[in-house]
Amino acid sequence: MKEKVYASIKSIASYVPKNCVSNTDFEKTLDTSDEWIVRRTGIKTRYFASDNETSSSLGYESAKLAIERANLNIDDIDMLICATLSPDYLTMPSNAVIISHKLGIHNKPAFDISSACSGFIYLLSLAKAYIESKMYKNILIVGAEKASSVLDFSDRGTCVLFGDGAGAAVISQTNDKNKSILDVNISANGKYSELLGTPRTTNKLQMKGNEIFKLAIKTLASDVGEILSKNNLSSKDISFFIPHQANLRIINAVGEIIDIEPSKIVLTVQKYGNTSAASIPMAIDEIYNDKRLKNGDLLLLDAFGGGLTWGSSLLYFNGN
Ligand code: COA
Repeated sequence: MKEKVYASIKSIASYVPKNCVSNTDFEKTLDTSDEWIVRRTGIKTRYFASDNETSSSLGYESAKLAIERANLNIDDIDMLICATLSPDYLTMPSNAVIISHKLGIHNKPAFDISSACSGFIYLLSLAKAYIESKMYKNILIVGAEKASSVLDFSDRGTCVLFGDGAGAAVISQTNDKNKSILDVNISANGKYSELLGTPRTTNKLQMKGNEIFKLAIKTLASDVGEILSKNNLSSKDISFFIPHQANLRIINAVGEIIDIEPSKIVLTVQKYGNTSAASIPMAIDEIYNDKRLKNGDLLLLDAFGGGLTWGSSLLYFNGN
């Protein structure tokens, strides 16, 4: 009988640009306040990339560290996939090929995916499928955003919500199910495509925030409930719940519905705002860096974003 192989997360890394922007900085140019932004979103600061940085340059920094932390050589990487809603180029070349080239990866497949803030969960599902089919052994996945490049800084309803950053992980083959990505749920519904997008007419992000807010809570709570019950697990079995960091009120509402201990919820939205496809790997890296994350911890991830797209994942952390 052929031996079954599994996919496991071997490393995590992130990169945050230097320029920290506080809510009070926005008070200078917009009819807004620190009090409003904190009360409605939880966000206090976010980081914006400089003019000479791009989403691929942020992605490159996180990707380089992810390879190092996985104790692999560049030649070991079989494929690179990047998720972004703020790519360097309009349609081509992809961020993935730019990052591959900078890393010195030659003649290996590289492509971008477009699934907005659910990007990292979609990346996990792709990496898992490629590895379990035995097509590849080590896949580098990167969520990288220069969200500030698509923000309309005159729209107070969107520009205060997002930040720039990148996160990366190496997904590798393992024979041990108890070290693996147990499951990934991904889905989408184009019926809601008008609620959040970057129209060609403006190339800027536009959003019906209130409608997204309500849909997000309902969709996430049912999606997370489904992945837990499908795997015969309850929120008590989870070491850390790492949701997409869009809005503290959305995170807390979902946390209450799935009845997870607040101390298990990883929060970075206050510091980084919504970094879209980068938000989940940045949040995993936050608990890796402060040494809360241990090998064997069971993580529950969830995300939603423009499309509407959404997804969740259950995985054991198997980093070094
Ligand atoms: N500062 C001050 N007032 C603001 C503001 C800001 N930055 N942004 C919006 N407002 C105002 C609105 O103009 C509106 O004013 P009005 O009543 O005079 O028309 C009022 O606040 C209420 O707006 P509303 O959109 O109903 O507020 P809300 O409670 O839904 O909060 C969001 C707005 C955007 C914070 C919230 O809807 C949200 O977080 N939605 C989800 C967005 C999201 O996560 N998107 C990413 C998906 S990945």
